[in-house]
Amino acid sequence: MKENFLYQKLQERSAVHALRTLRLGGEYVDYYSNDYLGIVKHKLLEELLRGSQLAHGSTGSRLLAGNYKMIEETEEEIALFHDAPAALIFNSGYDANFGLLACIGQRGDLILYDKLSHASIRDGIRQSFADSFSFAHNDLRELEKKLQNRSATKERNCFVVTESVFSMDGDMAPLAEIAGLCERYDADLIVDEAHATGVIGKNGEGAVQLLGLQHRCFARMHTFGKALGCHGAVILGSQILRDFLINFCRPFIYSTAISPSSVAAIRAAYKIFPAKHTDRAILKRLISLFDQKGFKKSATPIQCFILPGNENVKKAAAQLLENNLDARPILYPTVPLGEERLRIALHSFNTEEETRLLIDLLLLTVDG
Ligand SMILES: Cc1ncc(COP(=O)(O)O)c(C=O)c1O
Repeated sequence: MKENFLYQKLQERSAVHALRTLRLGGEYVDYYSNDYLGIVKHKLLEELLRGSQLAHGSTGSRLLAGNYKMIEETEEEIALFHDAPAALIFNSGYDANFGLLACIGQRGDLILYDKLSHASIRDGIRQSFADSFSFAHNDLRELEKKLQNRSATKERNCFVVTESVFSMDGDMAPLAEIAGLCERYDADLIVDEAHATGVIGKNGEGAVQLLGLQHRCFARMHTFGKALGCHGAVILGSQILRDFLINFCRPFIYSTAISPSSVAAIRAAYKIFPAKHTDRAILKRLISLFDQKGFKKSATPIQCFILPGNENVKKAAAQLLENNLDARPILYPTVPLGEERLRIALHSFNTEEETRLLIDLLLLTVDG
């Protein structure tokens, strides 16, 4: 019986303390959500959208009934903001990464991706007909070696994929160096800016624009579900890339388009987050508190405290909860064995006092 098989798989997870369950949030101080700038907490979108009578359904795929003027206008505005020739909106960052990577590489092409890339990138690559290899996290030497091997085998196109801010570690990719390697070895760079959007760059444009690399990227992906407080995502690139995705990207083609009410929220978020300079400055100050032993080096609102063993991380998270602080344990198999961690997401609404308490409690876990 299939149910027995499912039960057995769940038991296996349970035995290694890795069973995932759903929990309601909101009771404790938030060190887990991606609402880095407090756009959701402070209901900023609601203010801008008050009285809007926009439809909650789009009634079809973009290729059928689901295309409308506001979604195209919003794409044009977003492309302008991010200094890109064109933009295409997706229902989620997962869909955007998965869809792009599943369709972009053809048989004989090569995709090289950072080993710590998000599941949506890896899942898309798995669907692709292209060959693929990972390179060690942020390891330029290994990436270069793999690019050299590719030159020797004369594969057709080569794509290099990385995240600007890594979702589980909070560290950043050496994007300028990677862009240099891509140019040297004639590869196309794809950057996932999910956790950089709204947070990195003078106006929250992301790391690519901060470094002036926008014209050296083949594609960029920005999500709306994190600092922007909405949901959905966008792929930025050339007009030809946009046309290609409209024709070949299955999550774009075979799914109901995002609704006008959601697009209005995204448009409103793009009016809010660029001006959130004070919030970005507060984040910087909170981030600096973590520059000490025990925490992984990270200059972004994602901080982590490695505590090997699922049980140990769960225990540390429970101790924080007793002190009204909620940071979520990230367990194996989401991260490699031995790298289980507490992932601490910082927000501009977190106070310095609470944050210092959280740090002290975590350091005590190790000492005690
Ligand atoms: C690096 C990265 N890329 C993509 C995604 C997927 O984005 P979304 O939540 O919009 O599906 C996430 C979300 O966890 C992420 O962390």
